[in-house]
Amino acid sequence: MTTTLPSPAVLGARAFAALAGINRFSDEPGKLTRLYLSPSHRQAAEYVKGAMEVAGLTAFIDAAGSVQGRREGASPGLPAVLIGSHIDTVRDGGRFDGNLGVVAGILAAQAIRDAGITLPFALEVIAFGDEETVRFPTSLSTSSALIGHYDHAWLESRDADGVSLRDALVAFGGDPAGIAALARKPGSVKAYLEVHIEQGPVLEVENEAVGIVTAINAQSRAAVRVSGEAGHAGTVPMKLRKDALTAAAEMALALEEIAGAHDQAVGTVGVFRPDPGATNVVPGAVDFTIDYRAPQGETVASMERQIQQRFGEIAQRRGVGLSITPYSRDDATPMAAELQEALAAGIARTGSNLSARRLSSGAGHDAMAMARLCPSAMLFVRCEKGISHSPLENMTELDAGIAIRVLIETILELARREG
Ligand code: GLV
Ligand code: MN
Ligand code: MN
Repeated sequence: MTTTLPSPAVLGARAFAALAGINRFSDEPGKLTRLYLSPSHRQAAEYVKGAMEVAGLTAFIDAAGSVQGRREGASPGLPAVLIGSHIDTVRDGGRFDGNLGVVAGILAAQAIRDAGITLPFALEVIAFGDEETVRFPTSLSTSSALIGHYDHAWLESRDADGVSLRDALVAFGGDPAGIAALARKPGSVKAYLEVHIEQGPVLEVENEAVGIVTAINAQSRAAVRVSGEAGHAGTVPMKLRKDALTAAAEMALALEEIAGAHDQAVGTVGVFRPDPGATNVVPGAVDFTIDYRAPQGETVASMERQIQQRFGEIAQRRGVGLSITPYSRDDATPMAAELQEALAAGIARTGSNLSARRLSSGAGHDAMAMARLCPSAMLFVRCEKGISHSPLENMTELDAGIAIRVLIETILELARREG
């Protein structure tokens, strides 16, 4: 059954060519920044749609901005196995985060079509558009649309320039009124698989090309606003100041301390915006984000309580106002055991030198949302020095090819299980 499939070397070369094609599109010259619903997101989505069509998928860009492609199985309308990841990036991000998984799905579908294999299920590839949640304070909005958990309040949220998600979606060519209809019926989707770079160092240190994700860590995010009193930097005595920035800075340090005190927990202040942000003005307000994660949901809940208490104490002592608005809260997401086994079988069929290393994911993924709809699993691929969310993100062409071959073998394993 597998003799006509392309080798990992061939698949890797195809993957890097496709990645170069998608990554021509960026919001910022000289950097890879592709925010949800930006013009470069539209261009990348069109490119992906074209690549899906070349791979034999019937493709369209959906109401929320995801690209969806489908090839029917032995008969039309069968439940589908979905392969997905995302094509949005962080600002000045890497080439592989998300994009690799989309390209992997397309190339797997193409190889299966080219080998003349008819599957006992439909095969779909989805390129989600809002995984990084950099532009709007949403939470995996595009995959949430697919599973029927879209929060319509997200449409009224605004980016840093004051543009609402609703207006951005319309400008992109999407359809706010069409989002509800994207929800898949539970029985119509058999499984979700996502290939992604590890974004951490474990596989490289252990000299493994790929690994199987056991669970995705719990995570919470909130927007924090500290309101003090703006004043003249030269005239307001230190004792009389209500400096929003020094208060916010103390809160950032408190988050660092709280995360450091919990096993395997992490805490990050990634956005920090003083207002008005002038050299000679005592900052009157600061908006910042907090992102904190841990393998167990209870740890994240306990961190949340500590954050509220410590931030509250700091605000009171410094006489500043404080609001903490959570906008994303995800419990730990275990990956489906039967799909982890199918991935292990796919790995074994790809190469005797590969092993099925299991590891958990500290990063969030669309698989967290998809797992609410159907059995879901992820294959991690080794990346250089574990660096991600950075232009230094890197991996080898051969590892990309190995991962795609594993994906193909896993899809065929799922087909065998139907038989
Ligand atoms: C997504 O990349 C995340 O923040 O984990
Ligand atoms: Mn990602
Ligand atoms: Mn990412």
